[in-house]
Amino acid sequence: MPRFFDDLLPATAPDLAFPDDFLWGASTSSYQIEGAANEDGRGPSIWDTHCKMKDRVNHGHTGDVACDHYHRYADDVRLMKELGLGAYRFSIAWPRLLPTGKGVVNEAGLDFYDRLIDSLLDAGITPWATLYHWDLPQGLDDLGGWTNRDSAGWFADYAVLCGKRYGDRVKRWATFNEFSVFTLFGYAFGWGAPSISDRAAHLAAIHHVNLAHGAAVDVLRASVPQAALGAIHSVQPCRPATDKAEDIAATSLFNEHWNLAFPDPQILGHYPPQIAQAIEPYVRAGDMAKICRPLDWFGVNHYAPIYGQADPNMLWGFVFGALPETLPRSGVGWPIDPSAFEETLLGLTERYRLPIYVTENGFGTQSQEGPRERDELDDQGRVAYLAGAIAAMHRAQQAGADVRGYFVWSLLDNFEWGAGYGDRFGIVYVDYATQERIPKASARWYRALINARLGR
Ligand code: FCB
Repeated sequence: MPRFFDDLLPATAPDLAFPDDFLWGASTSSYQIEGAANEDGRGPSIWDTHCKMKDRVNHGHTGDVACDHYHRYADDVRLMKELGLGAYRFSIAWPRLLPTGKGVVNEAGLDFYDRLIDSLLDAGITPWATLYHWDLPQGLDDLGGWTNRDSAGWFADYAVLCGKRYGDRVKRWATFNEFSVFTLFGYAFGWGAPSISDRAAHLAAIHHVNLAHGAAVDVLRASVPQAALGAIHSVQPCRPATDKAEDIAATSLFNEHWNLAFPDPQILGHYPPQIAQAIEPYVRAGDMAKICRPLDWFGVNHYAPIYGQADPNMLWGFVFGALPETLPRSGVGWPIDPSAFEETLLGLTERYRLPIYVTENGFGTQSQEGPRERDELDDQGRVAYLAGAIAAMHRAQQAGADVRGYFVWSLLDNFEWGAGYGDRFGIVYVDYATQERIPKASARWYRALINARLGR
């Protein structure tokens, strides 16, 4: 079997004193890598629908084939093993298990994750499963999706199915990936699936997703022996783009929506002040206790600080503002500021007091489809970003942040939502014409970092 890596390691492997049991992993998600969208009984998701709508996704790309991971998972696990990963975070596609979201179960879909999980365990890699990374079954969206209060029950039933089927082998579960991002983008900004921009729909979705989280925690706790349960939040410090009073006010609301609307009720038992008022009509007696369930860990996805600005044309009056000229940017225009990561990890430790796992962090570049570009494989920008972020994480840990593990986003270049395949976040290059996987310089660097830690 050909290997993915030769033995040429980078000259300088980062040397930071993380504890021996610190976990090094990589993350992906179902719709972004699996492909096989119309195979073996999978039902459509809201992202299949979204991709078919005009001008929603760059170049009209879809997740129909993606990285063809559905068929190539065994090779991908071999790649992970060569990298030295201790853990792999993937998401389960709800419409693969329940093609219309509820009711009839698709055995072939269940079998796929059995195969994936068994291969991971055989390779000595701990599976971390996320129940929801944005691919809501279209059949449920037809019933109102997250705006329908019944969605909490639909999600709990799906969680029971997963817990009972995989819970003998999978102990690490996350309910949702980035609650605030998919609800804001999907129901307030109208940029992501299901393309809605409506105040009532957005508020209802926030509250119902919180209820769904709490319900799933309870059923997983009951169905998975020794479960370690968490949820994954996008946390990025929100800074006002200017010192104008309206930008400062807009950014404060932006912060509540982006960073607090989900972890606050889930862990502290209440909504942040400005949202609490708006959401009241959706909250029934007893709801807050159903949302706030005991958790074992906090998952944080961190990329870059947000610069907020007032915009009266936007639903909530805030929008992404101009970045300071002085900050360097990634290949997809996101600001690079490792101090924001340090601040995030320390802030989370103080506010929520749970062990933290960094469940995503990474660097995007833009490239057109076509011949492999030298720059893509020799991705020194990504190496520098990861080195800066991991050093910041180390500083935060030294200062008291309770960080236990780090998952890079992403193992593979993949379908980057509205940006299609033009934006690449992988440490491994995917040639979409041939589906060949080629480790980039960043993969060699990450492998050296992990192996140095393991004394290999
Ligand atoms: C996060 C998403 C992930 C990926 C990265 C770049 O917001 O969770 O799926 O798109 O951004």
